[in-house]
Order: sequence, then C-alpha cells, then structure tokens
Amino acid sequence: MHRARWAFSSARRRHSFAPMDELGYHDALAMLDWQIELGADEAILDAPVDRFALEDQPRQAAASVPAAAPASTPTAQPSVPQPVAVDAAEVARAAASAATDLASLRAAIEAFAYCPLRETAKQLVFADGNPSARVMIVGEAPGREEDLQGKPFVGRAGQLLDRMLAAIGMDRRAEDPAHAVYITNMLPWRPPQNRDPTPEELAMLGPFIRRHIELADPDILVLMGNWACQGMMGTRGITRLRGGWVEVMGRPAIPMFHPAYLLRKPHDKAKAWQDLLSLQARLRSIP
Ligand code: URA
Repeated sequence: MHRARWAFSSARRRHSFAPMDELGYHDALAMLDWQIELGADEAILDAPVDRFALEDQPRQAAASVPAAAPASTPTAQPSVPQPVAVDAAEVARAAASAATDLASLRAAIEAFAYCPLRETAKQLVFADGNPSARVMIVGEAPGREEDLQGKPFVGRAGQLLDRMLAAIGMDRRAEDPAHAVYITNMLPWRPPQNRDPTPEELAMLGPFIRRHIELADPDILVLMGNWACQGMMGTRGITRLRGGWVEVMGRPAIPMFHPAYLLRKPHDKAKAWQDLLSLQARLRSIP
C-alpha cells in the first residue's frame, strides 16, 4: 500500500479521488485503512482510474462521431496505418517452440508482451525445485507470496504442499531426481486479487506450460486443482477427477486436491493422502 498516492472514499467524497498529498496524515491513514477493510491488498496503478467517468465515455464518443458521408459523394481517405491484430496464442506458440532449454523458455516468457497479467504482477514466477525430478507439479497461478518471492508455492498452501510431499519422502530441494519434485503453474504471473485464470489466459499461455513440460520431461505430472486440470485436460471438477490417473502429453498424470482447498477443507486430507500413496506406488512401478 505504500505506493498508493491516491485514496478513494465513498463515505466522504462520493465517487471522487483525492491526491494523498492534499490530505492530512490522519485522513490519509484512515482512507488506507478503509481500503484494506474493503479487501484491497496492493496498489496496482500509480494514478487512479475513475471508472464512473469511464462508463460515460462510450456514449460521449458515440455522440461526437460525425454523421457518415452519403454513399453518393465518396471522399478520398488518407491512408492511415491500421493496427494489425496479433494472435497472442500464436506468438506464444512460436516463442515456446523456439525455446531449446528451460533458460531460453524462461527468457521467452519474460519477453512475451501480450499478457496483461504481467502489468499487474510484480515479477515472473517460473518454477522451483529440481528440473531433473521424476515428478513435475503443475499448480494454478502465483498468489501474493509467490509474486513477492518469484517462486511457486511458497505461501501457506505451498508449506502444506511441502509437508504432503515430505510424507512420501519427496522434497523440492532434493538433488536425487527420485526424491525431488519440480514445480510450476499454469500461469506464470499472479492474477490481480488472486482471481481465477480466465479461459483467454489459459489459452494464450498454454503453449508455454506445454513446452515447459516437454523440456523438463518428467515421468509423472501432478495436476494441482481445478485450473491445472482445465488447462492440461480441458475439463475441471476435481472432486470427480481425483482418485484416478489420466494421460497428459503422453505421460501419466494424477489430478489432486489443491493444498489451498485442503487448508479450507481439512477433512479431505484423507483423500489427498490416498492420492499421494498412489503417486508413490506409480513411481515405484515405473523403472
Ligand atoms: N497456488 C498455486 O496454484 N500456485 C502457487 O504457486 C501458489 C498457490
């Protein structure tokens, strides 16, 4: 919140913004407290956007469009360069397939300019753990803590994930690929306010996660939660999907409850334990 130089108070200034510098210290602090109570946890832009004014713009713009010239009096139009529509998923596909190793894939994602999430996220969250691991975990998207640290699954859900893995002798810091895990997410940037990924984001960034899996080449994939299933299997409904194995990109994959869900619904930890044992057994069965 320290970056916020503007405050919004519906109680005192209905639908208007006031520069913080014009407020006294106590007023400014009270407004920040008010925003935190409303659920704001960070400042996204340096300057405010008055969305009430924006709502009026399309109508004003439409009103100011000059009437079309009659068809019978054609006028010479100066040739104005037209913006070229970019197929962002196609750009991502080309960039991803040009990457020959994880470092160049990371660089390709860093350079990918078409995803708006990168404007609101603090940094790219690429991966953590051992890239040689036999198991690769695909989560949903970075949260606040991951965005700050630049690593996936480092918040409360990540700590639970580490404990779950430890229960079957696995560790993201392990050097031995047999006991190691490699961890990434469907989306490499945090969605604002941790909202769900949109279908457009999953489609646009899909080529990067698929190339990531190809390059890391794990024996087994773990799909953590609904959005990993949606992105990698095209379907969600984790309660129905978990408990069995599927094939994703030519390798066995196990859908599992997301640890953030388990923090909210601890009674489902028993089912997660069954899935962890199933993962351990599958690893033993693949030489
Ligand atoms: N949840 C996820 O799916 N991924 C993270 O990195 C953190 C929380």
